[in-house]
Amino acid sequence: MLVCPSMLSANSTKLGEELINLEKSGADSIHWDVMDGSFVEAITFGHHVIADHRKLSNLRFDVHLMVENPEKHMENFAQAGADVIIVHPEACGRLHSAVDRIKSIGLKSGVALNPATPVDVLKYCVDELDMVLVMGVNPGSSGQSFIESQLKKIAQLGSILPPSAEICVDGGMNDQTVKECAKCGANSVVSGSYIFKNSDYAAAIAKLKENSR
Ligand code: DX5
Ligand code: ZN
Repeated sequence: MLVCPSMLSANSTKLGEELINLEKSGADSIHWDVMDGSFVEAITFGHHVIADHRKLSNLRFDVHLMVENPEKHMENFAQAGADVIIVHPEACGRLHSAVDRIKSIGLKSGVALNPATPVDVLKYCVDELDMVLVMGVNPGSSGQSFIESQLKKIAQLGSILPPSAEICVDGGMNDQTVKECAKCGANSVVSGSYIFKNSDYAAAIAKLKENSR
């Protein structure tokens, strides 16, 4: 199980220190929740923030774009050092073209599925996908409870995606919910509040990995 801490729950007065600490603590990638105040209510990080933090770490950077018209911003996040760009179908006029664009700029592509969005939306672009981000909560904030109906979606994805694709669950992950997601076939999780409310990040990351075995 890959564990991808979300910087949304980090202490924003010391993001750099938090990033270095997460790398030392065994994080597999860093999840950046980019929100534009329109696709979701909150506003968070822009590409400059990510570019500055790129200099501090070699970890994979996953940029989760919770923004309208994500295609408009892809080049900036690619130049900032993103490794994976994740878009929401609801925010893209043409999902296939958005995924294609991510691939054409040399990055890995991900599509995020909101809790009410079925897997069918991916039917004609599965072969172009490196990751599906199953939202365990409605996007917009950390600290919400996992929506159990998403377990079925995780299992469905296993049968339609190529074996190399990452099935990552974002939202509501803790030492218990990670077990259920792993059983259904998830091989990656994003974690915000569970890791950051623990003063020992290494212990929290290790627990998520251990409980998914
Ligand atoms: C929600 C974000 C998540 C969030 C997860 O919109 O996409 O990445 O930070 O936070 P927790 O782990 O606290 O649910
Ligand atoms: Zn996210």
